Amino acid sequence: MIKAIYPGSFDPVTNGHLDIIKRAAKLTDKLVVAVLENPNKKNSLFTVEERIEHLKLVTKDIENVEIHSFSGLLIDFAKKENAQIVIRGLRAVTDFENEFQMALTNRSLYPAVETMFIPTSVEYLYLSSSTVKEVAMFGGDIGTMVPCEIKDTVIERFKGRDK
Ligand code: PNS
Repeated sequence: MIKAIYPGSFDPVTNGHLDIIKRAAKLTDKLVVAVLENPNKKNSLFTVEERIEHLKLVTKDIENVEIHSFSGLLIDFAKKENAQIVIRGLRAVTDFENEFQMALTNRSLYPAVETMFIPTSVEYLYLSSSTVKEVAMFGGDIGTMVPCEIKDTVIERFKGRDK
């Protein structure tokens, strides 16, 4: 059985993330989408529990996807889950250096897990959770950026907030 982990912050999940989830789920028997619990990130838009809820909602029709959170090292979570693959999406060359460093670090810590990169679909090349937050903060249209199930939740979160 091929089991993969797709880790990230998902604050919030974007259409770019969902595209990678759908494509990775086709290549694997089980895909675990893993939300990082990062105690250093105090200014997240959504709590980890909320992000898990959003991910469950937008992946409810994909049978072989599970949503979990993890803390600490990704490879320790991969070991615990008996996963052989870590999936990461790649948008542009600018992503590459960081992602390559992360993949090599993970491989040096635990060579049994391979990182596999999936290139983003062109329509999501520009998209990131930070872009979504910036556009939503100033009242821009995020309709093409996030799954429709969470669009209003993201907009609501910015109402009454300082810009
Ligand atoms: O969506 P993001 O924020 O780019 O995801 C980054 C993530 C969660 C994949 C990365 O920060 C991570 O794996 N953190 C866990 C700590 C770890 O294992 N670090 C060693 C690899 S550099």
